[in-house]
Amino acid sequence: MSRAPLAPYPALRLRRLRQADWIRRLVRETVLTPSDLIWPLVVHDGAEDEIPVGSMPGAPRLSVRRAAEAARQAERLGIPCIAVFPYIDGERKDAQGSDAANPDGLVCRAVKAMKDAAPGVGVLCDVALDPFTDHGHDGLIENGRIANDPTIERLVEQGLVQARAGADVLAPSDMMDGRVGKLRSALEAEGLQDTAIMAYAAKYASAFYGPYRDAIGSGKLGSGGLPNPVDKKTYQMDPGNGDEALREVALDIAEGADMVMVKPGMPYLDIVRRVSEAFALPTFAFQVSGEYAMITAAAQNGWLDEERAILESLTAFKRAGAAGVLTYFAPRTARLLGA
Ligand code: PBG
Repeated sequence: MSRAPLAPYPALRLRRLRQADWIRRLVRETVLTPSDLIWPLVVHDGAEDEIPVGSMPGAPRLSVRRAAEAARQAERLGIPCIAVFPYIDGERKDAQGSDAANPDGLVCRAVKAMKDAAPGVGVLCDVALDPFTDHGHDGLIENGRIANDPTIERLVEQGLVQARAGADVLAPSDMMDGRVGKLRSALEAEGLQDTAIMAYAAKYASAFYGPYRDAIGSGKLGSGGLPNPVDKKTYQMDPGNGDEALREVALDIAEGADMVMVKPGMPYLDIVRRVSEAFALPTFAFQVSGEYAMITAAAQNGWLDEERAILESLTAFKRAGAAGVLTYFAPRTARLLGA
């Protein structure tokens, strides 16, 4: 940015460029479009089209059939990509998260249904074990600790079944060390070289995931010998750290990540800015379930103008340098933007 000296007042009146809608639009630096949105949705295996989630009003769990309709809706609305998360029935969960690698499992069936319904809409899959483990952790537990390398083996199996089912993007959200490289080489070895990786590179141990854990049914599980409620601080990042986020991102890029993500979103806009500036590769932000719940709850109480809060928060991500945003408000936003 050139920094010519500013004229003094009254020659300089910054309000001149704010005086009417036409000129505000003309000089606006950041413009949000439906192409900036990734729509996260939770699928379930039952017959009900929609199952409401108490802490996420307006973002229910969807049947596979309804998820396929959502993909067609995304296409109509100009939303480029859907991120799919599963609600796994309790009896299918175990300590090893075995169902994660099931090629006929819920995620794979949902991916196929969505790609059949709308082939032009990208499908992104979370690579992580937490929906599948009976303890709710993202990793396998050995001797009371989350075991990094055995977890990666299971994640690679999971990523491969997702990619074979048609997932366009794999998004490892587990925060194990070294998983991006192992996933990349397994994909190459299997001839899946076009499957992209969006690494949840800087993912913080956050209170803002609470409603998501309700949505996927992982929040109030047994402890697996580890502290309960599920505490992910030995693998997810400490909210006090910013420099460490740059190291996490650098490692994931060196291992072959095509895109990276910062998560949660709004409390970590400084990280979005630092990462997008430092690495100049597509950097995404996840406006997570707790952020969705805050805006929705305040609006329901009449305390916020919901539409303005949605658009303002999403524009802020782009202003901070994000290439796009994962947001449960995606379809609503696309409509607000006139799609
Ligand atoms: C788990 C995962 C989480 C989210 C996406 N993938 C939660 C967690 O780490 O506990 C959070 C999504 C949200 O809160 O909207 N690997």
